[in-house]
Amino acid sequence: TIDQKVETLLKKMSLEEKIGQLNQYNGFYDVTGPAPKEGQAAQKYDHLKKGLVGAMLNVRGVKDVRALQKIAVEQTRLGIPLLFGFDVVHGYKTISPIPLAEAASWDLEAIQKSAAVAADEASSVGLNWTFAPMVDVSRDARWGRVMEGAGEDPYLGSLIAAARVKGFQGENFNGNNTILACAKHFAGYAFAEAGRDYNTVDVSENTLQNVIFPPFKASVDAGVRTFMNSFNELNGIPATGNAWLQRQILKKDWNFKGFVVSDWGSMNEMIAHHYAKDSMHAAELSINAGSDMDMESYAYVSNLATLVKEGKVKETTIDDAARRILRTKFELGLFDNPYKYCDEAREKATIGKPEIQEAVLDMAKKSIVLLKNDNELLPLKKAGQKIAVIGALANDKTSPLGSWRIGAEDNTAISVIEGLNQYKGNEITYAKGADVIVGRTLFGFETKVNATDKSGFAEAVAAAKKADVVLMVLGEHGLQTGEGRSRTELGLPGLQQELLEEIYKVNPNVVLLLTNGRPLAIPWAAENIPAILDTWQLGTQSGNAIAQVLYGDYNPSGKLPMTFPRNVGQVPIYYNHKNTGRPVLPEPDSVFWSHYIDQSNTPLYPFGYGLSYSKFAYSDLKVSASTFAKSGKTEVSITVKNTGKIRGKEIVQMYISDLIASVTRPVKELKGFEMIELNPGENKKVTFTINEKTIEFFSANNKWEAEAGDFKVFIGTNSADTLEGNFQYSN
Ligand code: IFM
Repeated sequence: TIDQKVETLLKKMSLEEKIGQLNQYNGFYDVTGPAPKEGQAAQKYDHLKKGLVGAMLNVRGVKDVRALQKIAVEQTRLGIPLLFGFDVVHGYKTISPIPLAEAASWDLEAIQKSAAVAADEASSVGLNWTFAPMVDVSRDARWGRVMEGAGEDPYLGSLIAAARVKGFQGENFNGNNTILACAKHFAGYAFAEAGRDYNTVDVSENTLQNVIFPPFKASVDAGVRTFMNSFNELNGIPATGNAWLQRQILKKDWNFKGFVVSDWGSMNEMIAHHYAKDSMHAAELSINAGSDMDMESYAYVSNLATLVKEGKVKETTIDDAARRILRTKFELGLFDNPYKYCDEAREKATIGKPEIQEAVLDMAKKSIVLLKNDNELLPLKKAGQKIAVIGALANDKTSPLGSWRIGAEDNTAISVIEGLNQYKGNEITYAKGADVIVGRTLFGFETKVNATDKSGFAEAVAAAKKADVVLMVLGEHGLQTGEGRSRTELGLPGLQQELLEEIYKVNPNVVLLLTNGRPLAIPWAAENIPAILDTWQLGTQSGNAIAQVLYGDYNPSGKLPMTFPRNVGQVPIYYNHKNTGRPVLPEPDSVFWSHYIDQSNTPLYPFGYGLSYSKFAYSDLKVSASTFAKSGKTEVSITVKNTGKIRGKEIVQMYISDLIASVTRPVKELKGFEMIELNPGENKKVTFTINEKTIEFFSANNKWEAEAGDFKVFIGTNSADTLEGNFQYSN
């Protein structure tokens, strides 16, 4: 068995070789050039040859992977193959929508497929491990990394986490087109104070258990082989050195058998956190807390042997970490064939192949959310129209790739203009209007522009005046979200708001194509602009997907996975909040209730919101049994009718509310959804089952349990617009 093979190998290994398996290096030299002779690169090269490296990251391409694997296999004493990790976050080279956009599809099959084709492409370039999915539940749109996750809901987030793990890893690792997945960042990273990346996280165990942990637990249940810990401190202890998180919750309570990799340099960052006094101390804290692999801190390779000799770390602790890592290597089949992912012919045939393009196009269409469509301005007529397309992002072939797409080259997405040009019946005029500001950058990409340059306004206004319809492509550039891109404003960056208002003055027939990696605060547009499509950053096939939706060849069905605020001051704003002791206006003119004096409490667009070119009417909510007991159930059903003119899809959502409990519970919690497709005039009864599992939560008894009591159940088209019923649970 694999376990026996691991034990046999472990017995042959020196302490240093075992520690080597716990060490991960970033790619450090050009394998086509000479071997490095000096500095840190030479030292890493030396470590590689001595078997002191267990994994690499950011080395990709069959040629490079093979060259390094050859060193590990042929030049080290035991010939243990390397793992090759990479951030395949939403595609490797063919890019799918950013994960937040994919989540808007609520389509688990499509999301799983998207991960599967990403694994296919990534594995063809020699990779066997992705640092995805990011499963952090996120409530704060200021945080740039919300683009990488599934939004604010633990239930939807858990289902999506499982779908993505299954997509990347497949059924097993017998073939060569699946890769290890990695649930990250464990834990709490998205709850950084003030939405500022890497900032302090202080949350209760109740929130951790009920909100933050569920998608991680779902990843374990789906068989995820690796976890990544997190840069942040959590309630006073950095996640990387947090034994409660990694040893108690993950490895003991959840029985996780895979391994935990640190985040980049996060072991040594504990020095800056003022938790570890030096790298030696950081290594001691990390390994004892259950961090199995060191990504780029050099803390383990430099210090663990000494720590074992000094008795500060037990050798059995090193064995446990090495065992976990070796087991995944056996599972991948790397000991049978270390070059199983190194096939030049497959690499050539796989990158960008039609099946992958089709999957990312399908995903992109499903990710678009129709936010507004007054007077049925959309879909556009296919002929005889003069269409002005305005906004720098309309003509941008890099922005749609979004953030975290380091395997893709710039300028490889289909732009909105290119997508529209596939349709020949209308006359298209393009005007940039204004640039989009890209501030801090990643990987050297920089587009700094002058925010006061309005020289393009006149041309845009002239184009709008002559047009029947104006398409304005506005929002965030793909590199204005992602890691290290927190924002304190959530409006349209730069001059875009002003441009929008100027254009609207001369032609109110505006369709706003919003480009965004997070919820944006667009109250003026929501009030004035007749049609708004949320097009996120949709990846390689972006322009094609947008054009098909604009022209009605695809009827949009996406629903927001994160609440859109009215302004940044409302953030964090999320639908599954608690009640407070003063939830509603007690009497006219009272100020003493939980509210703002300058803004409403309600969001601009609630969680689960999204329209269609069809219209859906909900009626007849019925609860089959008003009471059910332990191991029993009740069923709640609703009738949905397509009252529109065309066939369309609707995501029917079911929420519950636990009225009195041992700890306060959210006003609403998503507990089920179903996607249905209806012809005009057709109706369908949709039924959800509610049982003990549905109502369980982490209670005052510090365990997951269902408590007896009264509940409300809600079904509707989004979290705010629902019909409701009641039931009781007795245990
Ligand atoms: O996977 C990432 C992580 O999400 C952020 N820090 C770097 C890692 C490796 O690139």
